[in-house]
Amino acid sequence: MIGRLNHVAIAVPDLEAAAAQYRDVLGAKVSPPQDEPDHGVTVVFVELPNTKIELLYPLGEGSSMQIFLDKNPSGGMHHICYEVEDIFAARDKMKAEGARVLGTGEPRNGAHGKPVIFLHPKDFCGTLVELEQA
Ligand code: CO
Repeated sequence: MIGRLNHVAIAVPDLEAAAAQYRDVLGAKVSPPQDEPDHGVTVVFVELPNTKIELLYPLGEGSSMQIFLDKNPSGGMHHICYEVEDIFAARDKMKAEGARVLGTGEPRNGAHGKPVIFLHPKDFCGTLVELEQA
């Protein structure tokens, strides 16, 4: 059911330093920082030939990214995003398989303006999984 790897998201304690590292040390194409108030994050997109890396930094009060960084002060992998063709079909299949869909279970608009759901990390090898309708 899952298709391409859309992105890997990494929480970072210093967005400027992380962007500089990907740009200058790893030689990747890096976007300017972009605030996404609806998601409580500022994002830098790292474009790779076959996928993207998203560097995530907390934005605003009560950002879930801040909670993550409190537990992982030097940063860490936050989630991995796979593309699906039909987000509702994917959601229904996950529920039928007994995987926990986070939140209300209803798809909501993700960071790219496309519908997404998140799956409980304990059901997927300790990894928070995002499914995005491509
Ligand atoms: Co994501």
